[in-house]
Amino acid sequence: MQTKYLRRKEASDILAQAAHHNGSMKKSLNLYDLTGMGIAAIIGAGIFSTVGNAAQNGGPAVSLLFVFTAFACGFSAFCYARFASVLPISGSAYTYAYVSFGEIVAWTIGWDLIMEYAVGNIAVAISWSDYFTSLFNGLGMHIPDYLCIDYYSASRGYDQVMILLRNGIAWKDIALPLQEAHAAWSNAPMVGNLRLICDFPAFAITCAITWLVYIGIHESKTVGNIMVLLKLVILLLVIGVGAFYVTPQHWTPFAPNGVGGVLKGISGVFFAYIGFDAISTTAEECKKPQQDLPKAMIYSLVVTTVLYVAISLILTGMISYKELGAGDPLAFVFQKLHLNWISGIIALSAIIAMASVLLVFQIGQPRIWMSMSRDGLLPEIFGKLHPKYKTPWFSTIITGIVVALPSLFMNLTEVTDLTSIGTLFAFMLVSGGVLILDHKNKGEHPVKQQFYIPYLNSRYSMPPLWLIVATYTFYHSTTGSHNSFVSDLTHHLPLLLFTIIAIGISICAVVYQFSTIPVLGLLTNLYLMTELGATNWLRFLIWLSIGLVLYFFYGAKHSKLGKKAEQTP
Ligand code: ALA
Repeated sequence: MQTKYLRRKEASDILAQAAHHNGSMKKSLNLYDLTGMGIAAIIGAGIFSTVGNAAQNGGPAVSLLFVFTAFACGFSAFCYARFASVLPISGSAYTYAYVSFGEIVAWTIGWDLIMEYAVGNIAVAISWSDYFTSLFNGLGMHIPDYLCIDYYSASRGYDQVMILLRNGIAWKDIALPLQEAHAAWSNAPMVGNLRLICDFPAFAITCAITWLVYIGIHESKTVGNIMVLLKLVILLLVIGVGAFYVTPQHWTPFAPNGVGGVLKGISGVFFAYIGFDAISTTAEECKKPQQDLPKAMIYSLVVTTVLYVAISLILTGMISYKELGAGDPLAFVFQKLHLNWISGIIALSAIIAMASVLLVFQIGQPRIWMSMSRDGLLPEIFGKLHPKYKTPWFSTIITGIVVALPSLFMNLTEVTDLTSIGTLFAFMLVSGGVLILDHKNKGEHPVKQQFYIPYLNSRYSMPPLWLIVATYTFYHSTTGSHNSFVSDLTHHLPLLLFTIIAIGISICAVVYQFSTIPVLGLLTNLYLMTELGATNWLRFLIWLSIGLVLYFFYGAKHSKLGKKAEQTP
């Protein structure tokens, strides 16, 4: 018997609910729009900003990390695609979890998705502002530095500059971002003892995009499609021109800091792929969601993987990986080779690319809240549609506030890491959810409109896979270095836990003959999570705990499913 908190929604009830709401939202998205939206959501701050640090740590081999992460995301994309064709509903992973795991897990995922959508957008807005202000400065105009940076970065930058100056470093030899942080701190107006420092462009772009999302999906789609086209053309130009400046010697050594160095880039590289799943939140605005959503997710992932691998190879081939630590690596590389005009074009395309990511995530977040509200887990007003624009107006405004205000004050790295861990968690549960869904439907006839993940029996795939992993691990443990027991344990504990869980999952997969792709989705995403470090895990667990308190305080009492169960004798 299901406990109260693990009550599950039936897929048939969800479809009936969707039919009830059918027509309430405008159905204007086709396969091209959806693929465009997928690409719009994926290509953004990740490739334009965070890839620099990843390449500096991992060297040219970071391109392999892009391939590995693409596989992890690809397995999840198949699972999202399967669910999207069974449940073409705006709630995305939240709704999928409600059907497969039950209410409390669904709530947890809904709460967790705030990390992917709203917190992810804070990161994108901050990155957007960085590129925007440097382009603005490049054009000879200037926004005061204290209006383009967060308080913490300004204060830390000021301290760093003072240390450098005290150590005899000349002002002209100090990196530009540090000089700007110093200027922001020194020139900021004061209210009492408090300096007025904030990232105003990040705030402004969030407000503008929120307004666009508020007035309608059709307007958002048109603007989004134009932005995608522009950014694809510009990225192809970067690849085409960059290819002529590649010096193959830069690719040797390929992995200068070993596997460890490559894996340091996981958070940034994974962040670069987030977004293909976001299009599932528009299911109720698609013309043919069951057919088009699965294809669009997979197409957009394939296109971006090819672009990412090409870009990472070209970047690391153009200059030494050691010099790639810049916050705007693509523009930086071309500047370094005195191709300033391309650098300017890249900065412009970065602004466009990131605005389109903002757009898709600002669309996604309110639609998830709308689904949660329809189920009674959030107050009714979160699900209300605007009488004229047919968008969830209240949720859209709240999303705008939740993203715009923190983007004035928050720091980029922390938000990127939180987004990555939160999204990996969602991907993992969706992969697990598919296993439950398909296990429940075992023996039933395939439904024609639905997308099915190609079935490869885990009984035959898991044993050889483990053999390969074990051989690789054995080879590396005999050739690798040996640290002290304590440092080994701290370093390897997450990996040890992962191995134990992975063995458990694999045994179940073999016994129940699970489909291989979702099992690999579960394992690869879990593995990527273990690489994100203790601080992120702690913050993530605190976030989930706050969510659970809210659930018991509100959702559990107002759940429509719960009320229905109470009324049923
Ligand atoms: N993948 C998105 C980006 O890189 C979140 O901005």
